[in-house]
Parts: sequence; C-alpha cells; structure tokens
Amino acid sequence: MSESNRELEPLSDPGLPEHLHRKTDVDPLAAKKAERQVSILFTLSALGTILFVYAYIWIPEDTLIFLPLFNVTNAHQLFLGLGLAMALFFIGLGAVHWAKTLMPDHEVVDYRKEQRSKDEDRAAFVATVKDGAAQAGLGRRPLIKRSLGLALGLVGLSPILLLRDLGPLPENDLNETNWKAGTRLVTDPGDRPIRPSDLEVGGVAQVQPEFPAGKVRHLDDIAQDSVLLIRIRPEEFNLDAERLSWTYEGIIAFSKICSHMGCAVALYEQSTKHLLCPCHQSTFDVTRAAKVIFGPAARPLPQLAITVDNEGYLVAKAPFNEAVGPSFWGRDSG
Ligand code: FES
Repeated sequence: MSESNRELEPLSDPGLPEHLHRKTDVDPLAAKKAERQVSILFTLSALGTILFVYAYIWIPEDTLIFLPLFNVTNAHQLFLGLGLAMALFFIGLGAVHWAKTLMPDHEVVDYRKEQRSKDEDRAAFVATVKDGAAQAGLGRRPLIKRSLGLALGLVGLSPILLLRDLGPLPENDLNETNWKAGTRLVTDPGDRPIRPSDLEVGGVAQVQPEFPAGKVRHLDDIAQDSVLLIRIRPEEFNLDAERLSWTYEGIIAFSKICSHMGCAVALYEQSTKHLLCPCHQSTFDVTRAAKVIFGPAARPLPQLAITVDNEGYLVAKAPFNEAVGPSFWGRDSG
C-alpha cells in the first residue's frame, strides 16, 4: 500500500467520539427512501426550470395577476423568478440531502504536505476522486443519476435562453413614439397641458404626450416618450431656420433618452445651457439643437418640433425628427 493511500485510510482511533452509522448506512430500505427523496428534489428542480422556460416564452411580459399579499403583480416576472428560484433551490437541497444521507460518511485524515504534492500523491488523488465518484453510487442508483442529469441539463439551459435578451434589434420600435402632429404636451407627473407662459426663461420641465381618455401609459411609453422642455431667450439659439421653426418663443424640446446608451439626460446647467447625462457625462448644447460637445454620445438628442394649438397649449408639430434612444447596430450614428 502506498504512503498516500495509507494517509487516506479510515482512522481507527482518531480521538473522536465513536462513529455513529447513519440509518441509511445500515438499513437498505432507508437508503432506498433517501434515494427517492433526492430524486424528488432533483425533479422539483427540473420542474422549476420548465416553469422558468414556460414563463419566459409563453407568458406575455405585461400579463398581470392578482395575488392576496402582493395585490396586482406582473405574472411574467413572478413566474420567471419562481421558476429560477425553484430550479436552483431544489438542486442544491437535493445535493445536500444526497451528501448527508447516501455519500460515504467515514472520517479520513490527510496530513499536511509540501505545496506541490509528490507525483504518486497526485496519482493517488486522482484515484481517490474516481473511487469517490464510484462510491457516490451513481452507477448503482439510476434514479438519482437520471433525475440529476435532467435537473443539471435543464438548469444549464437557462443561461442559453437568456441569450435571447441580447436581441432582437429594436428595428422600427424607436422610430415610433406616441408623439404625433397635434399631440399636446402634458406635465410629468400631473398630466396637465402646458401653455408657453407656464415655463419661465431658464426653466426646465419634463413632459409626456397627452393620451386619450382610457389609454394607459405603460413604462415602455414613458421610456420612449419622455421629453425635456427648456426655455431660453430666443436670441440665444444658434440654429438654422428649420430648427428654429421647431421651437416656440424660446422653448425647445428634446428626447430625454441619451443617444449614447439610453440613460435619462437629467441635468441642465442654466448658465451654460448644457444638458448633461449623468451616466457617462455626455454633454449636449441646448442652443445648437443638442449638439454633442463632450462625452461618448455620437449624435444629438432628437428634437421634437413644437407649436401651440388654437387654445394656446403647447403641441407637437410632428413626430421626433429621428429615432429616440441609443445608437445600435445597423443604425446611422452620425
Ligand atoms: S448613457 Fe448618456 S453618456 Fe452614456
């Protein structure tokens, strides 16, 4: 027997209390029962993954359900979370239960060695690992083997599925906001129509397009439609005639969604008339139609042409002059 094998022998007298055998070590029926329990836990994990996949593919993202404790909640996200939690929780629980009830339970000693083990020790380690795998009894316990294979296989699928979130490209979605010719600008929050006199020179307001009664504004709408309204003195604009005609008495409107990576452009410096995106410091010059003067953004913020309707409220003259949001593959970034 080699030195290393001798070191991994069960201790005959390790100075510990007498080793108590588990029920599953001495009772084949108990072992069989534990095997079934482990298999059930792995199967529950597999069901969790199936729930996750089902929710991801077949439950629409805006499906709402009523739950007693949570009130109305989003079913898509709820079942995604529950499915993944079940998959990971039960696979962990199954592995722990398997280790505690069925895997070898005797004490071994491994003496301290040099940092690099001797070649024969390394070979012995490999042999021990193989021996341990054999002792884990996968070959003898086909139920565990199959249910573990199923659970691991399905859990492994989850990240592959999430790759789908990298696409598809937004295609035409960002070209189509709720801004149309004649849409009133309303305060956000508050939903009140705005007259030019409501915004004093130097002022900034966040607005949304007015929705017809009964139409619900979803988060996607808010993300795409958010507009910053800024008022400066008309003579401070440095715009061509067309862009100047998109402003109204010194009021100019830009998409609030940064053209770099889509953060909210939320900081306005009144003295310099610069808009700043807090994410990566892209800076846009309000007087020059939000031209980029600093930072990684590659194009100006889209401008919304505005005017007033016959009741004197600010309205859009036309949809945005280009797609809102960040640049993406296949889209001109200039
Ligand atoms: S998202 Fe605005 S600068 Fe990056």
